[in-house]
Amino acid sequence: MIRRLVLAAMLALSAITVVSAQSNIVEQREALFKAMNREVRPVGAMLKGETAFDAAKVQAALDLVIKNAQVLPTMFPAGSQDGSEALPVVWERNDEFKALFAKLGDEAAKAKVAITDDASLKANFPNVLRACGNCHQTFRKKS
Ligand code: HEC
Repeated sequence: MIRRLVLAAMLALSAITVVSAQSNIVEQREALFKAMNREVRPVGAMLKGETAFDAAKVQAALDLVIKNAQVLPTMFPAGSQDGSEALPVVWERNDEFKALFAKLGDEAAKAKVAITDDASLKANFPNVLRACGNCHQTFRKKS
């Protein structure tokens, strides 16, 4: 009897651990997306001509995108959909999903080398933004 109770308590505890570990991973990956967004937004303002070209800010944004594009594909374990904006298709078409992160990393790496001034910013940065949008279109809930 006692053994059974202990076992039940252990099972309940491990279930709680699994749930909180999952909500953690959702929060963790959302934090990485938000951080990219924060760095990319000022570059969007430069693209629109609202602010002057600032090479340091562009490079910082691209460095973060390159880094996060490598980490994020590992942060969508199976079953981590609850409470997130990720659609089931993330896990149904996981290879395609991961390939879009690789594409994002490639575009950001190319842009990092190519962008030296306002003209090269306008020629190259939109490819990075498109790589964000292409994935959201299919894999993220419309908010
Ligand atoms: C390969 C797919 C993919 C790419 C590429 C991608 N995203 Fe996302 N993004 C997602 C998914 C899926 C979510 C939902 C994550 C969740 O809620 O668990 C998301 C969520 C977000 C969020 C909302 C985070 C929050 O919860 O507030 C922002 C902001 C965001 N992405 C910005 C970006 C930016 C900026 C880029 C490009 C630099 C980008 N994303 C590239 C798939 C992608």
